[in-house]
Amino acid sequence: MSQAFEESKTFINPLELPYQDPLTTPLDELDVARPQLFEKDEHWAYFERLRKEAPVHYCKDSAFGPYWSISSYKHIKEVDQTHNIFSSEPAITIDDQDADFKLPMFIAMDQPKHDEQRKVVQPAVVPRNLQKFESVIRERTCSILDEIPHNEEFDWVDKVSIELTTMMLATIFGFPMEERRKLTYWSDVATGGVFKDFSEESQQQAQAELINCLTAFTEIWHDRVKNPGEFDMITMLAHNETTKDMVNDPMEYLGNLLLLIVGGNDTTRNSMTGSVYALNKYMSEYDKLRADESLIPNMVAEVIRWQTPLAHMRRKAKQDVELNGKLIKAGDKVVMWYVSGNRDETVFEDPHRLIIDRKNARQHISFGFGIHRCMGNRLAEMQLKILWEEAQKRFKFIEVMGEPERSQSVFVKGYNNMSVRVQRK
Ligand code: HEM
Repeated sequence: MSQAFEESKTFINPLELPYQDPLTTPLDELDVARPQLFEKDEHWAYFERLRKEAPVHYCKDSAFGPYWSISSYKHIKEVDQTHNIFSSEPAITIDDQDADFKLPMFIAMDQPKHDEQRKVVQPAVVPRNLQKFESVIRERTCSILDEIPHNEEFDWVDKVSIELTTMMLATIFGFPMEERRKLTYWSDVATGGVFKDFSEESQQQAQAELINCLTAFTEIWHDRVKNPGEFDMITMLAHNETTKDMVNDPMEYLGNLLLLIVGGNDTTRNSMTGSVYALNKYMSEYDKLRADESLIPNMVAEVIRWQTPLAHMRRKAKQDVELNGKLIKAGDKVVMWYVSGNRDETVFEDPHRLIIDRKNARQHISFGFGIHRCMGNRLAEMQLKILWEEAQKRFKFIEVMGEPERSQSVFVKGYNNMSVRVQRK
């Protein structure tokens, strides 16, 4: 294990770090892994500097230990595709303080175990199953949008984004619909959105909640062994030769559940909120949409680029490797900042702007590349497409009433709440 990796275990509260000016801080001291920067939407200038001056950059000292920042589109793609050198083990986020509470999940595994486990749950999101989901999603979207009050302020995150993504998750797990908000809660706990102060007590509370999640899903597992569902993921795991014993390794079962819960929850939820926010920020794009609704599929890709719901994925170098003239040592932590790659001005013209008919919107890197490329990408796109098709049928305008409150996280790039008002047609 490299010295760099060992050092990363010293605890520093990232919320207590002193401010750094993005332009004048010496380059080798620049540390972008600060939750407040994301919460205040102030991270852009730091990444712009990194892309320009050091697209492969070493930060020797941060709350999460030393790490490399990969900020340009080209180099992110290179790292993500070179999985034989850049390992996804032991974790895929920069924050690995919780070393005692390890949750194995296939997103954080290398070949061959990764491929075996991915293969098992993948059928749940193949086009044939997505077609089955489509009518359910449309029905639920319609009923949620129909209940929205006319000309009255409400929280879009809670009433629409969370409701839709949580219903979807309950469907793919065959989880009791009336208890669906538990899924939202566990997802928030897993991503650090509930117990947020980084203290040891908070970590323990979070772990206790996640054990409750495991208990509930263990019961569901045993039920599905006897009574298989038609196409839910727990049935698939419980009846597949490769994973049928997963329940006997509770941490692995919990890890994979949380992967699906977080993967399907925060990401899509924040794209839904981000789409409304961005259309309000760039009002002429809202006009474009009103004039031509056939732009919705491209707009969905553009919104996912613009929002980048997961700001980064992290890797660990398995051997010494040179990238852009810099020597990355075996054991070093390497962070691919998708949030920066998606705003790389050498790939996306006027990158900070939402442009719903952007020609190369689909080249975004929000879903990653290579063997870990997002498994739920089509499902997420379908949910967003249906949301906007149905919203356009009903509303002249979804008006954002003030700045949303953003997540305090360097991983999930999202919103806690956003007040809106709708004008019905
Ligand atoms: C806009 C929505 C979404 C975004 C931006 C997103 C983003 C990502 C990213 C960045 C990765 C890792 C890619 C890499 O390391 O190269 C990933 C992997 C994954 N995502 Fe998503 N995701 C979204 C929606 C979903 C949904 C709806 C589901 C499930 C129902 C899902 C399930 C997964 C799973 C299981 C993996 C692990 C794949 C693997 O390791 O092979 N995601 N996602």
